[in-house]
Amino acid sequence: MAIEDSKIPAIAEEYAQRDPKEIIDLAIREYGLDMAISFSGAEDVVVVDMAAKTGGKFRVFSLDTGRLHPETYAFLDKVRSHYGVAVETFFPQPEAVQKLVREKGLFSFYKDGHKECCGVRKVEPLVRALTPLQAWITGQRRDQSPGTRAAVPVVQVDPTFRNAERALVKFNPLANWSSQQVWEYIKANDVPYNAIHDRGFISIGCEPCTRPVSPNEHERAGRWWWEEETIKECGLHAGNVAS
Ligand code: ADX
Ligand code: SF4
Repeated sequence: MAIEDSKIPAIAEEYAQRDPKEIIDLAIREYGLDMAISFSGAEDVVVVDMAAKTGGKFRVFSLDTGRLHPETYAFLDKVRSHYGVAVETFFPQPEAVQKLVREKGLFSFYKDGHKECCGVRKVEPLVRALTPLQAWITGQRRDQSPGTRAAVPVVQVDPTFRNAERALVKFNPLANWSSQQVWEYIKANDVPYNAIHDRGFISIGCEPCTRPVSPNEHERAGRWWWEEETIKECGLHAGNVAS
């Protein structure tokens, strides 16, 4: 079933300008339940909506860092009931969180940078989430982060988590979409969304590391705002920076 790595660049080219629905349809057709949508509780609900409309079977997972906004938790549950899909939730290893918090407190990221905490709360759980999968779908868009995502293709061999034991393909069906297109889709299709978007939040991550942005600011300015633009990848998409 899996697509060979060598064929991925040609498929990426073929699908580069296609509608996101066609890319999601391809992912579900090729991988079925060996693939899952990585859902963050922000505007990538569009991917879940499109997947539901294909009529095919698909999986959704979310990484619960333990530091999400209450509204994000409410939204994750809303998506579960609205689409009748189990959101498979992955939590960090308690020992690793306990060690970090015991040694450095609950807000070490403001001083030491976000990598260590994201490593424990997001990246390690993501590795576990990806272990049984051959492919995953993200809601990454190029315009989300001109510094790190400008070249994200609609499908790629996972640049970060593919390894010698296991192939892993990463679909980014919204790569070409702007934030405006995402919001037009949400409104036109009555798609549920995270309530804090109505309070000026655009890109939503963990509560202590996310803030609303003003109209003239880029959406990414609301994430890890105390850090430099170029390092604003938490490790889930670290391959964007390496490439
Ligand atoms: S992040 O790496 O900076 O946190 P961002 O919030 O832009 O990522 O989201 C990009 C994509 O990463 C989302 O569309 C989603 O596919 C995935 N993602 C981010 N955070 C999570 C999460 N907590 N759980 C599952 N997937 C996530
Ligand atoms: Fe920790 Fe902030 Fe990363 Fe969440 S976004 S895992 S709280 S550093």
